[in-house]
Amino acid sequence: MARPAVAETSLPELPVRRGKVRDIYDLGDTLLMIATDRISAFDWVLPTPIPDKGRVLTGLSVFWFHYLGEPHHLITDDVDQMPIPAAAPIDQLRGRTMLVRKAQPVPIECVVRGYLAGSAWKEYQKTGSVCGIKLPPGLVESAELEQPLFTPATKAASGHDENISFEEMARRVGNDVAEELRARSVALYNKARAYARERGILLADTKLEWGWCDGRLILIDEVFTPDSSRFWPADAYQPGRSQPSFDKQFVRDWLDATDWDKNSPPPPLPDDIVEQTRQRYIEAYERLTGRAFPWK
Ligand SMILES: Nc1ncnc2c1ncn2[C@@H]1O[C@H](COP(=O)(O)OP(=O)(O)OP(=O)(O)O)[C@@H](O)[C@H]1O
Ligand SMILES: [Mg+2]
Repeated sequence: MARPAVAETSLPELPVRRGKVRDIYDLGDTLLMIATDRISAFDWVLPTPIPDKGRVLTGLSVFWFHYLGEPHHLITDDVDQMPIPAAAPIDQLRGRTMLVRKAQPVPIECVVRGYLAGSAWKEYQKTGSVCGIKLPPGLVESAELEQPLFTPATKAASGHDENISFEEMARRVGNDVAEELRARSVALYNKARAYARERGILLADTKLEWGWCDGRLILIDEVFTPDSSRFWPADAYQPGRSQPSFDKQFVRDWLDATDWDKNSPPPPLPDDIVEQTRQRYIEAYERLTGRAFPWK
């Protein structure tokens, strides 16, 4: 049975910064990154959380940090080892919290794409290029690319990411750092993509973040989760159209079938959509980690 969903956390006397999905508490040299059960679709955070979604996201990030063998920011995901105030609702935090080393983030979203989707597909249709990289003509939506593309982005003030060229990234962070992050990001994407493919999931694209810690660049934020990446079910893949999303398709289809205009606050989700979506997240966790989801 699912525990009640956690839409928002509040830890006594700690300042919090809330993203769309995560609540982040600053402990000085470390951060507590808590994935809530909030879900976003069509750029809106929905009013109905998905129970245990945050545990799936955290569990997947933790799995990948270990699997990838790349220097990363995770210290522990065991809440009993974390400096959490005694009055905090510890059971609520279990499984969804990472204690991480605070790094100095490189202000670039390192996006790697193996397939032509989202903003890259839009840009290609207009210009035949993606982030200044010329692609062959005649590619269809969701086409698999011959080589994964590194398409950096910056966080624009509007909150929407803005694609930039590799040269622009190099101007901002220096050529050596840009080259290093491109190589490391593409290598991690390739490794994760091959692994996911064997488990029936196409990792269409992803966003990685890096930060400086003790003079070197380490992997920060979340990695290869359905919130930072496009997961497609491999058995439904069909180029020439948009692909169903592994995790959010029930939610998107249901919202599309309502009369919601996508410009005003979205409606609450019915229970069966919540439950089917929850099962999809759990399925992604189990397929990728090869382990039973501990919170079923
Ligand atoms: N180890 C770390 N040290 C310092 N900052 C980090 C670390 N890991 C992640 N961050 C930063 O923490 C922030 C996480 O915010 P979060 O992703 O929850 O919200 P957001 O990016 O503002 O919005 P969205 O919900 O749309 O992603 C990011 O700015 C990320 O760069
Ligand atoms: Mg973010």
